[in-house]
Amino acid sequence: MKLGVCYYPEQWPPDRWPLDARMMREAGLAIVRIGEFAWTQMEPAEGVFTWEWLDQAVEVLAGEGLEIVLGTPTAAPPAWLVRLDPDLLPVDINGHRRRPGTRRHYCANSPAYRRHTQRIVAAMARRYASHPAVMGWQIDNEFGCHDTARCYCPECTLAFRLWLKDRYRSLDALNRAWSTVFWSQTYRDWEEIEPPNLMVAGPNPSHVLDYYRFSSDSWLAYQQLQIDILRKAISTAGGGDSPPEQFICTNFMGDFPDLDHHSLARPLDLVAWDSYPTGYADEQFERLYPPGEVRANHPYSYDVGDPVITGFCHDLTRGLKRAPYWVMEQQSGSINWSTFNTGVRSGAVRLWTWHALASGASAVVYFRWRASLSGLEQHHAGLLNHDGSPATGYEGLLSMLPERELMARVSAEPIQSQVALLLNYPDLWAIQLQPHRRGFDYLRHLFVFYRALQRLGIMTDIVSPETDLSAYKLVIAPTAFLGGERLASALAGFAAAGGTVLLGVRSGFKTTTNLVTDQPLPGVFRQLVGARLTGWHALPPGVEYGIETQIPGLEGPATFWMEGLLPLSPQGESVESSEGGDQVLSSKALAQYTAGPFASQAALIENRVGAGRALYMGWYPTYEQAVAVLAYLADQAGIERLADLPPGLVASRRGPYTLLLNFTEDDLTARVGERSVRVAARDVSVIQ
Ligand code: GAL
Ligand code: ZN
Repeated sequence: MKLGVCYYPEQWPPDRWPLDARMMREAGLAIVRIGEFAWTQMEPAEGVFTWEWLDQAVEVLAGEGLEIVLGTPTAAPPAWLVRLDPDLLPVDINGHRRRPGTRRHYCANSPAYRRHTQRIVAAMARRYASHPAVMGWQIDNEFGCHDTARCYCPECTLAFRLWLKDRYRSLDALNRAWSTVFWSQTYRDWEEIEPPNLMVAGPNPSHVLDYYRFSSDSWLAYQQLQIDILRKAISTAGGGDSPPEQFICTNFMGDFPDLDHHSLARPLDLVAWDSYPTGYADEQFERLYPPGEVRANHPYSYDVGDPVITGFCHDLTRGLKRAPYWVMEQQSGSINWSTFNTGVRSGAVRLWTWHALASGASAVVYFRWRASLSGLEQHHAGLLNHDGSPATGYEGLLSMLPERELMARVSAEPIQSQVALLLNYPDLWAIQLQPHRRGFDYLRHLFVFYRALQRLGIMTDIVSPETDLSAYKLVIAPTAFLGGERLASALAGFAAAGGTVLLGVRSGFKTTTNLVTDQPLPGVFRQLVGARLTGWHALPPGVEYGIETQIPGLEGPATFWMEGLLPLSPQGESVESSEGGDQVLSSKALAQYTAGPFASQAALIENRVGAGRALYMGWYPTYEQAVAVLAYLADQAGIERLADLPPGLVASRRGPYTLLLNFTEDDLTARVGERSVRVAARDVSVIQ
């Protein structure tokens, strides 16, 4: 695994660069990312390029043996450029044009901005695509950050209509797909279609879902514009004595929900995410943990973040290409955009680096080299302090020097997960549009299962439903809301071949264009799980009904959301009661409601499918219930559990190495097979 750092040479006097570069090398850094916000320094006026400083910075860094990741600077449109084409500024959901002056102030569909992008990226590519010190490119920076994933400007309106024409071909097809008969919404002309903002009542969910898809596709197209230019330049540069091909990547934001990262990842050589564990611990906690849960009750040390949230983002990013990935920005001290912005003590950087390694990262690039004297991030730490002296982060790097060899050995080993957790962005968006019950959040539902898997010491890939599932033993789809014949048949094939499928509440409720299915629920999954829903019921806080079951730990209560289930005959027909049906049923109830609207109906159903099986879980589980059902399934399916873990300890496996990471203030002990392993507070143990 390589380590690197984000550096902004344009923000420091050139006579400091040589010392910085030398200190980077001495701390064991091999990579430096530069350039991603320096457009004005590269092109101070249209078509006028000033590369000398960048050439010099590259030479200084390369002189210390550092490999360079060059960022295209399009996340920060210069003031002169916005003045030329003010229409490139994005319009927010409230119809307000956003102002320039910071970053990300552009619309991906703006023809003017695409033209400017083409010019700067082509010029950069011409200059550096054959540079031996440049190992790869980062396109732009964090698409969608600062609430910019969706724009509602006139250019987007035009682009949306084209996108719809391409998708539906005819207005009849669109009217059917959106079922515009509701409230007289039928369209007779493409020009009548508007973006779904500023509407009087809540908009048509089919309309909005397509706008979200379109917005994500707009970034995909914008990304492709840059990829095409870079690829062409890189391949032209390739020759006899050329360096290994430069890669093209971009930096995502972990579980950021507004873009479809599966489609964005596809054309890239490599994906990366930006990891800020203490920031996410504050901001994401409320989104991912059950409503009302108190963070102080979790045992993690305040300055290392919540490793389950960090792990979720690692595993999600690795799942995008099911391949090694990078952390393009790794927090290295306190940050400036969270709730408490706690200080970071020595040991945190090392723990985060090991966590990335344990999760399959092949490089970790720290943010940022030196704390900034200016701009928005003045209170943001770097590896060096404001005055250029080593900060806690730099000490952290030095502390890892003796173990770099071990890190290299571990990171040469593959990650092999037996469990896949399916993440589908359109499902996420559709639930976001109609949560129906406060707090029903798609990622939160995913997270309860993920958290349970972590607790059980089970390695998990978070992947797209389009992934080849054959390598897994268990596939969990917590809310396959939009169903889809394709997913239903992929899951059926996976189960028939011996796999175990677990579907959760609200699966199969809709069609892929966000209409409700006209079939009995769970729609396309009915045959697979051998069950039919009798109804669904959102439960307000304080209301709960009992569940009885033989599965240890799974018994009551049902809270939050529940659905009644009836087993079906193998022919897919309803049978009146589950008793006496044993001869005719392939599915059986593993849990029943003891009271409430679905009293004595099934709450969890298991259906035998070929050599495997499919289960439907009829209620939204508590964390403890998720642990119980997954422990049961892991046992049944012969899934490996790495260790018996106390809360606060995280386990992972790469090849023969088991890694145990302790994120608490106390020494903890885990059982790994026959062994009992003690891991010191905020420390890591690697065992073989
Ligand atoms: C990231 C961004 C960086 C920097 C950092 C601060 O979102 O990519 O440029 O702003 O946050 O934590
Ligand atoms: Zn726009």
